[in-house]
Amino acid sequence: MCGIVGYIGQREASPILLEGLKRLEYRGYDSAGVAVLADETLKLKKYKGRVTDLARTASSSDLTGSLGISHTRWATHGAVTEENAHPHVSHDGKISLVHNGVIENYLSVKKFLESNGVEFYSETDSEVFCNLIAYHYEKEDKNSPNRFLNSVRRSLRHLDGTYGIAAICTDCPDELFGARKGSPLIVGIGTDEYLLASDVSAIISRTSNVVYLNDGEIVSLKNGELNLLTNDEEVLTPEVQKIDWDIAESELGDYEHFMLKEIFEQSGALENAMRGRFSDDQSTAKFGGLNVSAQELRQVDRILLCACGTAWHACLVGEYLIERYARIPVEVEYASEFRYRNAPLDKNTLVLVISQSGETIDTLAALRESKRKGYKTLAINNSVGSTIARESDGGIYQHAGPEIGVASTKAFTSQLHILSMLALYLGRLRDMSFQEGVEYVEALKQAPELVTETVKLNDEILAISEKYKDMQDCLFLGRQDMFPIALEGALKLKEISYIHAEGYPAAEMKHGPIALINESCPAIVLATQPDIHAKLLSNIQEVKARGAPVIAIATKSNPLPKHLVDDQILIPDSHRAVLPVLASIPMQLLSYHIANLRGCDVDKPRNLAKSVTVE
Ligand code: G6P
Repeated sequence: MCGIVGYIGQREASPILLEGLKRLEYRGYDSAGVAVLADETLKLKKYKGRVTDLARTASSSDLTGSLGISHTRWATHGAVTEENAHPHVSHDGKISLVHNGVIENYLSVKKFLESNGVEFYSETDSEVFCNLIAYHYEKEDKNSPNRFLNSVRRSLRHLDGTYGIAAICTDCPDELFGARKGSPLIVGIGTDEYLLASDVSAIISRTSNVVYLNDGEIVSLKNGELNLLTNDEEVLTPEVQKIDWDIAESELGDYEHFMLKEIFEQSGALENAMRGRFSDDQSTAKFGGLNVSAQELRQVDRILLCACGTAWHACLVGEYLIERYARIPVEVEYASEFRYRNAPLDKNTLVLVISQSGETIDTLAALRESKRKGYKTLAINNSVGSTIARESDGGIYQHAGPEIGVASTKAFTSQLHILSMLALYLGRLRDMSFQEGVEYVEALKQAPELVTETVKLNDEILAISEKYKDMQDCLFLGRQDMFPIALEGALKLKEISYIHAEGYPAAEMKHGPIALINESCPAIVLATQPDIHAKLLSNIQEVKARGAPVIAIATKSNPLPKHLVDDQILIPDSHRAVLPVLASIPMQLLSYHIANLRGCDVDKPRNLAKSVTVE
C-alpha cells in the first residue's frame, strides 16, 4: 500500500527517486509524485497515473536538487486525483511529506488546524499530517537546532493510526526525516548518500546495506550522518543488515511480465526453499531458525495457521499436509478475523503466520495478538528483515527472491513446499516411519524437476486460454487438498482478468453454485487424486449434464475419460505432498494467458496492491 522513496546525498535526487518508485509500483499505482529541495526552494511534480507517466512529464520540468521525497499511491483517503497525490505540502509551503498508512484521528486534527487558519487543498489524512508538523514547527523555538525534529516528534504524539513517512523542510535543505509506526520503512546506506524506502526493492540497485526502522522510531539523515531515535528522545544504535538479493531478480529480463517470469522461476524457488534443509540420515527436514526445540514441538497439540489472500490458501493446504502426515489438529484463520475473534486457544497451541511480504498489517496484528497471549508464534516469510520476520519468535525464510507481480505465484508454491517440509519434520518427530520419510524427502527433492516439466505446458495452456478467454464466469472445483488449490485458481483468475470465478469443493457445487452452470460457465476440475476419481467423475457428469465445458487438470498416469472433458491438462505424477504445487502451475498459466489475451495489465491489476499495509 503506497510506496515511499526519499534521497539525500551528492547526486541528483529525482532520477534516483523515480527509479526507486518504479520498483515500488507494485505497492500502489494510482498516482505518483516527487518533491525536490534545492537552495531552500521546493520543486514539486505530481501525476494522476503511473510512475512512468510521472517520469515522462517530470523530465521536462526543473527538478534539480540532491534532497527529495517521492511516493506512489494506493488511495485510502480521497479519490485518485492530482491534489490527493503525494508529496503533500503544508499551507505555508515549508514542510513536504509522503505518507504510507492511515491516520485515524485526522478529522479532529484537521478541524483543529482549520480553526487555526489552515486551508486544505486535498481530502487526505496525509495533508493533515503535513500541516500538523508545520503547525508545531511554527511554534518551536526558531533558534533551536532541533526545531524540525521536535515538530515531527510533537506531531507523532498527537496522531493515532499508522504511518511510514519521509519529510523535508525548506529551512533545512540538508536534512531528511523518516518515521514509522505500523507501515514499513528502511534506510539504505549508500556511498555518500542515504535512501529511505518502503522496502528493499526500491534501493537494491544503489546499496545492499540497510537499517530497518521499528515502530516508534525516527531517523534523521543529515550531513552524512544517520541518527536513529525513539519518539521518547532515546538515541539508538542502528543495526546495519546486508541484503543478499541479486538486482537481476528484480528485472524483467526477456519476459513480457513479472508474473510469467515468476511462474518460470518456481523450480529455482523450490530449490532455494530446500537448500540445506534436509537431514538425510534421519530422513527428515531441518530448519535453522524455528527457535522451538524438538521436545517443545512434540508437546504441541494444535496448530493455528493464519494469513491473508493467497498465503491463506497456502495455510489451507498446510492444514491437509500437517494433519495427514504429522497427525496434529490444525485450524486455519484469516488473520483479520483471528485478531478480533478472541478464540480460546490451548496453551500447547503453536501459531504459524504466513506472509510473502512480511508486512501485511492484518497478519502482523494477528502475530502480535498471538504473542501477547503468550503463544509461541512462528512465521513463514519471504522478506528477510521484514516486520513479521523480526517480531515472530522464529520461523522459516522462503528465499524465493523478490516477487514483483501483484498476483502471487512463486511465493505461493514456495510456501506450499515449505509447509510440506514442515509436515514431514513434524511427522518424523511423531509417528512417521523412517521409510515413509525417505520416500517423502525423495519426492520433495524431485519437485523442482517436475515443476520445470510442468511449465513446459505453457504453449498448450495458451491454446486452451484462447478458447475460453471470453467467458464471463468460471468455477474451480477440487476435493481435499485440491480444494484450496481450486480457491487459489479462482482468486488468480478473478484478480488479474476480472472474470467472475469461484472455487468450491467439488461435491458442494450441488448446494448452490450449480445454479450458475451453463454453456458459458466452464468448470476447471482438479482431478489429481486417483483414490477419489470416481466421486469426482460424478461431479463432472453433473456439470456436463448442464452443458458446461469441463477443463480437467489430472496426472499423466490417471487421465480422465476423454468423453467427459473438453480439455485436459496432464501434469507429472508425484507424491501427494508435492501435487498441490504442480497443480497450481496450470492455473497460474491459464489466468496469466486469459488476462493477457483480454488486454489486462497482468502485473498491476486494478484496485490491488501487493503489500497491504492498511487494515
Ligand atoms: C495482497 C496480495 C496477495 C497476497 C496477500 C497477502 O492481497 O495481492 O497476493 O497473497 O496480500 O500478502 P502477504 O505478503 O502477507 O503474503
